[in-house]
Amino acid sequence: MSKLVHAQWSSKMTFVLAAAGSAVGLGNIWRFSYMVGDNGGAAFVLVYLACVAVVGLPVLVAEWLIGRRGQKNPINAMAELAGKNAQPKAWALVGASGVLAAFLILSFYSVIGGWSLSYTLGSVTGTFTGQDADGVGAIFEGLLGSPGLLLLWHTAFMALVVWIVARGVTKGLEGAVRTMMPALVVLMVVLVGYGMTTGHFGEALAFMFRPDWGALSGDVVLAAMGQAFFTLSLGMGIMMAYGSYLGEDVNLLGTARTVIILDTGIALLAGLAIFPIVFANGLSAGEGPGLIFVTLPLAFGNMTGGMLLGLMFFLLLTFAALTSAISLLEPVVEFVEERTPLTRVMATLVSAVAVWLLGIAALMSFNVWPEPVMFGLNVFDLLDTFTSKILLPLTGLGAIVFVAWCLDRRSVAAELNLTGGSEQVWLVVARYVAPLGVILVFVNSLLG
Ligand code: PFF
Ligand code: NA
Repeated sequence: MSKLVHAQWSSKMTFVLAAAGSAVGLGNIWRFSYMVGDNGGAAFVLVYLACVAVVGLPVLVAEWLIGRRGQKNPINAMAELAGKNAQPKAWALVGASGVLAAFLILSFYSVIGGWSLSYTLGSVTGTFTGQDADGVGAIFEGLLGSPGLLLLWHTAFMALVVWIVARGVTKGLEGAVRTMMPALVVLMVVLVGYGMTTGHFGEALAFMFRPDWGALSGDVVLAAMGQAFFTLSLGMGIMMAYGSYLGEDVNLLGTARTVIILDTGIALLAGLAIFPIVFANGLSAGEGPGLIFVTLPLAFGNMTGGMLLGLMFFLLLTFAALTSAISLLEPVVEFVEERTPLTRVMATLVSAVAVWLLGIAALMSFNVWPEPVMFGLNVFDLLDTFTSKILLPLTGLGAIVFVAWCLDRRSVAAELNLTGGSEQVWLVVARYVAPLGVILVFVNSLLG
């Protein structure tokens, strides 16, 4: 019933908290740091920052704008706004690929959320206290090598997500986001402080910000663009769905800037916390998805008050992962709900079970099923690569092209409060720079 009314966000703050709750998650800490390490450091970071500014910002604004105008779920919104002047079917397809992306991402996201849960418990029981790099590595290997343990934690994480969604307490989460988010920022700053005491902070700074452009390849650029979409929750219709709750009075550009600064800031802090530990312990930056799990416990295990800080950190990380996961499940549930006679609760269960099953295939990549299944990638890498490097950018491209080329240009400028020079900048970026950027990155990586 409440869907008919389609109540708008009670305040701008509530909206920012929901958007930030979706954006800030494992992507900022787990995925950002391991991508930076895997892709050679600073060149990746700088391209990523450029992608966030030039592609991420306009796509985020475009998704909110579509959602606010459409007042519907993403698939219908694009089909309907397209009206007679364009192929509604084609635009509906863009929406559908977003739902697929959300489904695929949640399956492996939940596996990593499970790692975070497991490390929360590990912090309480003092598992990391006094460990050296080898010890911490062995603990992580132990987790990875056990399909049963991974399944347990993956299941626990998905169960938490379903429990929160089914109880309908998602609204209540915003209050929690309001306190957890600053706490997470403070903890990251503390960890950066620890990084400074290792004597390897300068090395980390250089690794992250002094580019070796020789390390740049088509694939690194594609990875950086994929990370920009992933971390901002773009290209999945999620931000579109959120936009449909937005009041007319909310300033889209300003709000996008706030969310982006928060999201990017947390990612950069994570890098500055993790890489000093990497260099101080002679670890490999290109460690892969396990990077934060073999570095941060070293810090917690060897600093005063580390047990409590470790517990707080993994608790906050799990919480951030949960709020993102909830936003990932939402479009899938809505899709099922609309196409089947299932009730909301049943649709939630069915979606979650499907996600959970695919997650099992993903977690087996770390032990019993490491073999490549397609394009030389195992299931986990395939899910991650296909979504972040292909689906998300394509869907995001659809959103920006739609807003820049299919909607009335004047009314879009008015909605974004743009006049004169700023309108010109928007037009050039939204019509040419962002879409051509995405296309060029694709073509370039295909050729390279
Ligand atoms: N943006 C989230 C993160 O950085 O962890 C992950 C995510 C959430 C991606 C929701 C996509 C999404 F729709
Ligand atoms: Na993020």
